[in-house]
This record gives sequence, C-alpha cells and structure tokens, in this order.
Amino acid sequence: MRVGLIFGGRSVEHKVSITSARTIAQGLQQAGHTVVPLGLATDGCWVDETAAAAALAGRVDRLDAVGLPVARTMERLLTCDCEVLFPIVHGTWGEDGTLQGLCEMLDLPYVGPGVTCSAVCMDKAIAKRLLEAQDLPVVDAEYVTREAMADSAEGVLRRVRRLPMPWFVKPSIGGSSVGIRRVDQDAELRDAIEHALRFDDQVVVECGIVGRELEVAVLGKPGAFEASVIGEIVPGAAFYDYADKYLDDGARLLAPAELAAEVAAELRQTAIRAFEVVSGYGMARVDFLLANGDGSFFINEINTLPGFTSISMYPQLWELSGRPLPRLVDDLVQLAVERHGRQRFMDQGIKSWIRELSERDGS
Ligand SMILES: Nc1ncnc2c1ncn2[C@@H]1O[C@H](COP(=O)(O)OP(=O)(O)O)[C@@H](O)[C@H]1O
Ligand SMILES: [Mg+2]
Repeated sequence: MRVGLIFGGRSVEHKVSITSARTIAQGLQQAGHTVVPLGLATDGCWVDETAAAAALAGRVDRLDAVGLPVARTMERLLTCDCEVLFPIVHGTWGEDGTLQGLCEMLDLPYVGPGVTCSAVCMDKAIAKRLLEAQDLPVVDAEYVTREAMADSAEGVLRRVRRLPMPWFVKPSIGGSSVGIRRVDQDAELRDAIEHALRFDDQVVVECGIVGRELEVAVLGKPGAFEASVIGEIVPGAAFYDYADKYLDDGARLLAPAELAAEVAAELRQTAIRAFEVVSGYGMARVDFLLANGDGSFFINEINTLPGFTSISMYPQLWELSGRPLPRLVDDLVQLAVERHGRQRFMDQGIKSWIRELSERDGS
C-alpha cells in the first residue's frame, strides 16, 4: 500500500519523531509497502517532498520552520495520494487527537488510536479520573487549576499536603517530562505548581512512588488486544526527566524486566484493561510504577504514539515478544484499514436507518 508517514511537528519531540519515522519506514518497506514521507516543520507547516525525504534518509535531523500559514502548505498532504496514513508525531498537535481528527476529515485510514482515546490519554487529569472510575490502579493525586491557585493558593497547598511527600507536580497536558518537578520539601511546592502552570491550565500533583518504572506494549483492537513482555526504565537521574530522556543519555532500558511471572501477567492484563477503558485501538505503551515494599503497582500513563526509534521500548518489546518490526508495522497498517472499513460500514448503517424512517413516514 502507499503509506503516508507523518513525522516531525511542533512539539519538543520533533527530532525523536523523525528518528521514529526512519525506523518505521524501514519496517514498512521490508513489509512491501511504499513509503510517502510527509514531514511537518517545527512551525506545523507541511514541508515539500524533497525536504521530507531528506529527513527520512538521515541527511537532516530537523525540519526548520517554513514561515507560511500552515493551511497554505497543506497541499502536500492533500495531493499525496496515500491509501493509509501513519502519524508518528509525538506530543501536542500529533498525539493528542488533533492530527487524528484531520485524518478522519480526510476519510483516510490512519494508524494508532482514534480521536477520543488520543485526546483523553494526552490529558493526565482526565485519563487518571477515567481509569480510577473503573477501579484501575492509579497514583493518588490532587488536581489544581489556574483559577483555584488565583482564588486561594493557601487552600490549594493545604489540599495537596494531605498527600504524603515526595510529590510529583506535572502539567496535566504534556509529555517528555516538560514542566515536571519532584518536590521533596514543602517550601518548594508552590513554586513547582506555578512552574507547571506555565505549560498548562491544570496541574496534577501526585504522591511519589519509590520503586521501579515498567512499560508494556499493547497492540490490537477491542476484543483482541495483545500485550508484550515487560520492559523497565532505569532513570539516570532522580527521575526520568527531560534531560535524562533526550540530553544525558543516562537512562537504561531493560527488556524483558526481571519480574515474577504472576506480576508480569497481572501488568499485561491491567495494560489491556486500561487501554480498553480509554477506548483504545491500534497501539499504546502503558507505563507503570511498581512500589518497593508491598509490590503494589499503578498505571502512570498511556502513551498513544510511543517512541518508535530502533532503540525505543515499543518496537523492542514486540521484537522480544516474537513480532519483528516489519510485521509490527504491517499489523498496525492492517488494523487502521480495518477500522476505516468498519466506520464506513457504520456510516452506511446510519444512512440506511434514516432512509427507512423517512420511507415509513412517507407511507
Ligand atoms: N507519581 C510518581 N512517582 C514516582 N515517579 C514519578 C511519578 N510520576 C512521574 N514520575 C517520574 O516522572 C517521569 C515523567 O512523568 P510522566 O507522568 O510519565 O510524564 P510524561 O508524560 O512527561 O512522560 C516518569 O517517567 C517517572 O520517572
Ligand atoms: Mg512518561
């Protein structure tokens, strides 16, 4: 098939997205697909074919701002003549439902979760409340809005103090650990909340879990989700922060993680259940925190367009679970096509139902 591979974009994960796209392109070609490079510059403009191909081939590692109104550059997408789209734009304007909505409006199949799931998983406050309501384990948290802080910062701080320290303070919408601070002293709490409010209007304050970070790759469709072996992140810093992810290279990725078989099975099952609760489809990496001591575990977050570089956890976990890269990306493409077919079928169902109603009315 002609697969439009969409990469780059406006988020801080621009370069990672390009690296992810290179890995996916290899897999797609090995699986017999034709790859059409669709690059998004750092200002959101759709770049021309030559620039996109240069990024995919490794000749450039960044698509610089084009400086036109984004809408004027969309011709590249509209005329690419692709049968299916594979968006691998991590973070905002890519992983959050916006790009998925664009694919829907174009009536083209696309890889990964749909609009609702993408948007829900990008917002930590919404995702946590949804999972919690279904009795899935999430870390205890308080939610703080900009208005609440303006109204009574003291009241907010009192509310947060009911949680045991250390605290993790995060912008509700975000990624790559941007704006996240670990707070070990009461005096630093307010500053951490204000810092996180630079990135979003809502902040999540969680109690910190001392333990291990584990990740599970999920793939499939409702009723037929599969979960991979478990991976482990060993942060090189106090936690897996922005520098550790992209600058220092200090973190270590271990797979499969050393875990009792029952714990691994429970994590896999919980990952699938969590993905079902958020209307998942296609793929996601579900991240867990496993507490030292009593061994309790919590879902930290669900990443709907996980890192896909050759050393990223998602493709590695599938490789170790017996699904090599070409098969992995081909499975994702087939899932996308299947969902699109079902949506068309349901759309026809609605239309024929309306027709029946109006015929009955007319008789
Ligand atoms: N409640 C917590 N307890 C312990 N560590 C945490 C907690 N929340 C986040 N972290 C640490 O911060 C990192 C980033 O947080 P995360 O919620 O995954 O945000 P992002 O979406 O930016 O990846 C995690 O990988 C982990 O190292
Ligand atoms: Mg994370």
